Amino acid sequence: MNVQIAPSLLSADFSRLADELRTIEANADLLHLDVMDGHFVPNITMGPAIIKACRAHSTKPFDCHLMISEPQRYIPGFLDAGANLISIHLEAEPHLQRALQMIRDGGAKAGIAINPATPAESLSTAIEFCDYVLVMSVNPGFGGQKFLEPVVPKIRQISRLIQERGLSVAIEVDGGIDAHTAPLVAAAGASMLVAGSAVFGKPDRGAAIESIRNAVSSVAI
Ligand code: DX5
Ligand code: ZN
Repeated sequence: MNVQIAPSLLSADFSRLADELRTIEANADLLHLDVMDGHFVPNITMGPAIIKACRAHSTKPFDCHLMISEPQRYIPGFLDAGANLISIHLEAEPHLQRALQMIRDGGAKAGIAINPATPAESLSTAIEFCDYVLVMSVNPGFGGQKFLEPVVPKIRQISRLIQERGLSVAIEVDGGIDAHTAPLVAAAGASMLVAGSAVFGKPDRGAAIESIRNAVSSVAI
């Protein structure tokens, strides 16, 4: 099956972002940008200013993953910075539908992100209001962590929910994705794969992206 691969800039060399973006330009489908606030997650990364600066150096859709408290307050800033997809954490936003609508009204795709311990059932109502669900397969905060296998049946459950409701919602998986784990999540129903260390941790980024793509190409839909 075909998947979209989103290299995560978190594992790139932050002192040379324009050069790093050039290394994935020919092969990536999306660029994944991890926004962390030191509150919702125990790390601080980038905000709209960095994303806006990157915008001029990439033609890829910008997939912004907000791991921040009170995400609704910051949505306009990320839209203005050039985000094409914005995901917010279900655990961080009490007015999920309103926040997702704000993203859509700004012309971007709206995603709901869920932590590994958040059950599929918590999406039951919210899934109707989004374009994609981002399933975390590590606890958010850092790149290079080990893939958590128990999320695989959860992806399958979410995929079933989408089919039963006849929705056109994509499933993105983020955390510990490489050529070994990608087929597992693709077979469970994921069509967007984030890969940080498995792409930016390798000397040949194009080859790294294609090795993940090839690993899932023989997976039956
Ligand atoms: C983790 C981030 C991920 C991270 C993935 O909190 O949301 O996007 O960059 O990195 P890898 O692919 O190395 O697990
Ligand atoms: Zn992410």
